[in-house]
Amino acid sequence: MTMISIPVETRSASYQVHLHEGAFEPLTSYLEEKGFRAFFLVDAQVYRYHTDGVHDLTGFNKGVFRTLIMKPSEKMKTMASVNRILSFLQDHGADRKSVLVIIGGGIIGDIGSFAASVYMRGIRFIQVPTTLLSVIDSSVGGKTGVNFGGRKNFIGTFTQPESVWSGRSLLMTLPRAEWESGYGEMVKYAFLYDRQFFERVAGFFRLKGSARQEELNSIMAECIAIKARIVAADETETGPRKLLNLGHTFAHAIESATSFKVKHGVAVSAGLICAAELSVVRGMLSRKTADEYISLCREISFPKLLSLIDPAELWKLMQSDKKSSNGEVRFVLLREGEPPAYDIPVNEKIVSQAIKNSLHWFE
Ligand SMILES: NC(=O)c1ccc[n+]([C@@H]2O[C@H](COP(=O)([O-])OP(=O)(O)OC[C@H]3O[C@@H](n4cnc5c(N)ncnc54)[C@H](O)[C@@H]3O)[C@@H](O)[C@H]2O)c1
Repeated sequence: MTMISIPVETRSASYQVHLHEGAFEPLTSYLEEKGFRAFFLVDAQVYRYHTDGVHDLTGFNKGVFRTLIMKPSEKMKTMASVNRILSFLQDHGADRKSVLVIIGGGIIGDIGSFAASVYMRGIRFIQVPTTLLSVIDSSVGGKTGVNFGGRKNFIGTFTQPESVWSGRSLLMTLPRAEWESGYGEMVKYAFLYDRQFFERVAGFFRLKGSARQEELNSIMAECIAIKARIVAADETETGPRKLLNLGHTFAHAIESATSFKVKHGVAVSAGLICAAELSVVRGMLSRKTADEYISLCREISFPKLLSLIDPAELWKLMQSDKKSSNGEVRFVLLREGEPPAYDIPVNEKIVSQAIKNSLHWFE
């Protein structure tokens, strides 16, 4: 795979997302070339599996110690972790010209970028996503943040990275469950974009070996390009960027209801099923098309506990989602023969019906 670079142009920034073979090599040269004084935040699992590469990149072998290693979980995606990163930066003398290089999945990416966005009123940061989910989604578009008061991503900023570097071989150490989680967000793009892309993603799940590998590289690039276009049109989510929340109002409630036992991308996939069922109940989508959409989500395995979810509890959690106001919950819904629509208000009775209709898919 030769390096693919995808431009992201927003109101506040222009940058490149690079997809390349190997792990950190092109980034090492880039940091040297730019003369950045870099600080590093590294996901503990990535450090464990890619120790030599991290040491080369961070200058550890030359006696440079500007690296903080953190173990991610939704429970540590909090202000306490942000404080730890801010103290690390301050204690090691980071200044406004410094750059924080953030190496890890979506959790380390979200907390690290939030810390960088507020340290000294904002320093530059580079994202090095290491999970499928973070490559195709969370590292691009500048949403930073942490959970707060039991609510997902409640505190945060919109701050774009300086650049994004995704090394293909970093993904090779991902456990199967993390691939499945990433597929959840991939399927979301398939729902959002056109028929041709939907067919490609469906076809991808049937491929094996090197053909699957090659197709994955190309689909990842396409997902990033789709996100780049949406973010360029609406950086701060006042309009079409809301489409990227397809399935997410359900997903965030599912994550909270299960005390984060369900991985984000798996919850998204379950949320996409609920959104498809809701679109049917609202009369916006035919049963036949919904089943086609849902068949893609079924490529991801769901844990048993999803089928036990209580619709009333989910509704309560959805009402407290940051995207809701005055107890009214608005959804991104699918439409027959048309692109999805956002900001559709739906009442509890209809949402409960849709959740009930969804539960059998999780058995
Ligand atoms: N900012 C955004 O726009 C945005 C978009 C989507 C999701 N998110 C957030 O992303 C988070 C989920 O991210 P995630 O799915 O990457 O989970 P994650 O960050 O928890 O990573 C998943 C697991 O994989 C491990 N890991 C990471 N890279 C690895 C590698 N190369 N090899 C082996 N193990 C590795 C991690 O240590 C962790 O245990 C959620 O908190 C979600 O809210 C943010």
